[in-house]
Amino acid sequence: MNILRINTTTLVIASAGVVLLTACGHARHPSNQARAASAPPRMSTLKAAAAPHQILISTAVNPAHLDEPEYAKVLATEFAGVEPENAMKFGPVHPRPNTDQHPYDFAPAERLISFAEEHGMKVRGHTLVWHRQNPEWVTQSNFDPMQLNSILEDHIRTVVTHFGTRVFAYDVVNEAFNDDGTLRDTIWYNQPGIGYAGQGTKYIEQAFQWAHAANPQAKLFYNDYGAEPINKKSNAIYAMARDFKARGVPISGIGLQMHITLNADTPENLQSLEANMKRIADLGLEIHITELDIRLHSDDAASLAAQAKLYGEVVAACVHQPACKMIQTWGITDKYSWIPETFAGYGWALPWDRDYQKKPAFGAMLNALQ
Ligand code: G3I
Repeated sequence: MNILRINTTTLVIASAGVVLLTACGHARHPSNQARAASAPPRMSTLKAAAAPHQILISTAVNPAHLDEPEYAKVLATEFAGVEPENAMKFGPVHPRPNTDQHPYDFAPAERLISFAEEHGMKVRGHTLVWHRQNPEWVTQSNFDPMQLNSILEDHIRTVVTHFGTRVFAYDVVNEAFNDDGTLRDTIWYNQPGIGYAGQGTKYIEQAFQWAHAANPQAKLFYNDYGAEPINKKSNAIYAMARDFKARGVPISGIGLQMHITLNADTPENLQSLEANMKRIADLGLEIHITELDIRLHSDDAASLAAQAKLYGEVVAACVHQPACKMIQTWGITDKYSWIPETFAGYGWALPWDRDYQKKPAFGAMLNALQ
C-alpha cells in the first residue's frame, strides 16, 4: 500500500491500482482514474489550485509596480504570497549607518506588506545575509570582524523585530556556497567576516540564531541557486542542514531558487531534483521553491511550449513532495524580469508576457496543480 500526500481534509490511499478518495478536497497527486471518478472542480487560479496541496503560490514583487492596475490585479488574483524582490535586502532597507537619524528605509517593504495584508496574502522575507546589495557604509568602511559582527547582529535583530509576525519566513542567508561546495569568500564570512573566518558554516549558524532570537515564530531558510539537483553545492547545503538539525540550530527549510533554462528538462535532472527534495524532507525540513523562472532564447511557439512543459514538471515535483510548501516565481510578467539585463540574449522567463497575457507556462502550472 502506498500512502500519498495527505492533508487535513483528504485521505488518498492507492492500493493495487485502486484509488479511494474521501472527503471533498483532493490530495497532491490522485491518479487520473481517481480524478475522473471524483472530478473535483477545476480551479482557475494558481493560488486556488495550489491550496488543497497546502502549497503557497507566491511571487517576487517590486512595490513600485503596485501602482500599475494590471500588475496589482494579477498579483492579487493569482498569488497567495509575496516576497520583496529587493526591498528587504541590506542595502535597500538599511542604506545609512546607525549614526544617521534615519538608518532604515522600511517604507517600500511596508507598502508591499500592506498590500499583502489587504489581500490576505503571506509575506516571505528576503534576505538578511548576502554578499550582494550591501550598502557602501558597510562595504567601504574597513570595519573589523568585531564591528561587522555587531553591525550584522543589530541589522538582523532590527529588521526581524520590525516586521514581526507580518513576515512568516525569511531567507536568513543567501548564496553562501560556491558551485564546488566550498564557502564563498564574502564580507560576512572571511573578508574580513564577523569573527568566524575559516570556521565553516559557523557564521551562517550565528545568523540563524540571531534571527530566531528576534522572532522565534518565523520560519528560517537557507536559500541558494544551482543547488536544485544533487550536486556539489546541494551536497554542501545538505551537510550543513543535517548538522544544524542535529545540533538544534533553528533552521526550518531550504530555498531552492530555480533560475533555470530548458537544459534542466531531462529525466535525470528532474529525478535528481526529486531526490534532493526528498533528502531535505527526510531531515524534517521544508522546501520552498523561491525564485522560479525559466529563461528562453526566443518566444517562438516551440520555446514557449518547452518552457511550459518544464514549468509543469517543476510544479509537479513540488506537488509530489509533501515537504514542498511554496512555489514562488521570480516576478509575474516578462515586462519586469531581471533576466534580460543579466543574461544577454535571454528573456521571456515568466508565466505572463509583457502585456499580462497568460503564456502556456501558466496553463502548465495550473494543470500540474489540478
Ligand atoms: O537601487 C538602484 C536604484 O536606486 C536605481 O533607481 C535603479 C535604476 O536601475 O537601480 C537600483 O538598483 C538595482 C536593483 O536591482 C533595484 O532595481 C540594481 O542595480 C540591480 O542590480 C538590482 O538587481 C537585483 C539583483 O538581485 C541584485 O543582485 C534584481 O532586481 C533582483 O531580481 C535580483 O534578485 C536575486 C535574488 O535576490 C537572489 N537570487 C538571485 C536573484 C537574481 O539575481
